[in-house]
Parts: sequence; structure tokens; C-alpha cells
Amino acid sequence: MSKRDILSVLDMEKDLGEIIDLSLELKKNRYRSYDSLKNKVLGLIFEKPSTRTRTSLEVAIDQLGGHAVYLNPSEMQLGRGETISDTGHVLSRFLDAIAYRAYDHRNVVELARSTSIPVINALDDVEHPLQIVADFMTVKEKKGRFTNLKFSYIGDGNNMANSLMFGSALLGTDMYVASPKGYEPKSEFVEKARNVAKQHGSTITITNDPVEAARDADIIYTDVWISMGEESKKGEKEKAFKAYQINESLVSNAKRDYIFMHCLPAHRGLEVTDGVADSINSVIFDEAENRLHSEKGVLYKLLSY
Ligand code: CP
Ligand code: NVA
Repeated sequence: MSKRDILSVLDMEKDLGEIIDLSLELKKNRYRSYDSLKNKVLGLIFEKPSTRTRTSLEVAIDQLGGHAVYLNPSEMQLGRGETISDTGHVLSRFLDAIAYRAYDHRNVVELARSTSIPVINALDDVEHPLQIVADFMTVKEKKGRFTNLKFSYIGDGNNMANSLMFGSALLGTDMYVASPKGYEPKSEFVEKARNVAKQHGSTITITNDPVEAARDADIIYTDVWISMGEESKKGEKEKAFKAYQINESLVSNAKRDYIFMHCLPAHRGLEVTDGVADSINSVIFDEAENRLHSEKGVLYKLLSY
């Protein structure tokens, strides 16, 4: 059987909905021991910090009967110049899958190219596919459907924006992205998402107006303004994004039963106020919990053969 990588949300083109349903099923039976991935070992290579992705992947593989090995790149020979390609060839002989969080998407592609085992993108500068499975699982739980919804992402046109556009496009959800001028998602990703959305009967709208996005929204989503690795842009970006804060006034434009989502970590007082993050409309901690269940779904799909 040929291996399957998940480097992009679009690598789940055929079965994103199925993986979400499986994840919802696994959530119902959280403490049942499946043992379906007995003896399977997942390597975790993380170049950047993580609270949710690392922990949930470790617990997920454990609850499925396998286990994880955490690899800090600065303690590997990678940090001393061994190539990604040689690393991939060697790790393929020990492990059953690798989750890789990288600064540069090209390195994730390179690792996938040089391994004979599945590689999962655990976030890079272009995408965050695992987050999307948890996010749309949460949408299904809270709204019961993917279609006839206005999903509004208000914030930076970053990795989250790209992956959310691809997820919406695959599931037929109408999506708005509102970003300041100069911070919109790159047109190559918007065009790609629009092509997929067309096949599933949905639309992707890009705007610079946060109120247009918030108006009658079913879902309001945001992410940090300064992603990992962008710390030097802090001053410039905080200024540019000021009017894009998710606060009580902005969400008053949304539907009464809208849900607030955020992949977390949140920088409270910047992209979102406490009033919104802690409101009854906020589902951020259910969303975070779903990282665990959805990663079990993804790992099961990739490794149970
Ligand atoms: N949402 C997310 O990926 O969080 P971490 O950076 O904590 O893994
Ligand atoms: N855009 C953020 C997402 C964190 C989960 C980052 O890349 O830092």
C-alpha cells in the first residue's frame, strides 16, 4: 500500500467529511481502548512551540494503543547539518508516521518526499491541516451542518486563513475572510480555494471590511495577529489590525446564536477581548478538546491497515 501524507487540507479532499464523522464517533467512546494502532510509533518533530498539537497527538496515539517519540530538532543531527532527506530516510526505518511542525512549508514537502511513511503537517507557514479537522468537527457539533452557514474569519491572511478556506471549500461552507489591506491571504491560495469551492457549491469572499464579514455570521473565527516567527512585525501588525479586533461591538452584527472560534493560543486584548472569548457564544475550549478526537480520526485513517 502506498503511503498517504497530509501536508494540506486538500490532501483530505475525498474524505474530510468521513474523518470528521469518525472523530465524532471516537469522541463518544473516548475512554474505550481501541488498540487499533498497537505498536505503531509516531515521531513528533517540532521546530516551533506547541501546547495543543503536541499534547493532543501524544495522547491520541496513546489512546489508540501506539506511542509517540518527541524529537527536538535542535537536539537532532538536523541542527548540525544532516539533511532533511537523510533524516527522512533513516526515520522511516524506525517510525510508522511523522508529524512535523516547521517554519518553512518546503521542508515539510522535502521530508514527505524522503520518507516511506506518512508525514503529517503539524503547522507550517502555509497551512495547519490538523486544526481544520477539529474546527469543522466543532462546527458539525454546534451547528449540525456545513452548508447554509456564513463562516467569517476576521484577521491575518495566514496559515489558518489558507487552511480554513480549503476546509470550507471542500465542505461547501460559504466563507468570508476580512483582513486589512496588504494582509489578505495570497491570491494563489484564494484562487485554489475558489476552484474547489465551485465544485462544492460554496463561495469564498475576501474583504477589507470586518463589519461586512461579521454581519449575520454563524461563525466568527480569528487567529493571532503575529504568528510564530513573525515577532519582528509586532508593532506594524498591531497597528494595522486594530479595527479587526473581535470585540462586543463587532460581534453584535452576527446572528444571535453565532459561535466564536479561535485555534488558540489567544492574545487576549489584541485579536479578541475577554468579553467575547469568555462569552456563552465562545466554543474555544470545545474546539481545543476536539484536537484530540480529530487527531485520533486522522491517525486511525492513516495507520490502521
Ligand atoms: N492551535 C494550535 O496548533 O496550538 P499549539 O500551537 O499550542 O499546538
Ligand atoms: N497563525 C498561528 C497559528 C498558531 C496555532 C501561527 O502560525 O503561529
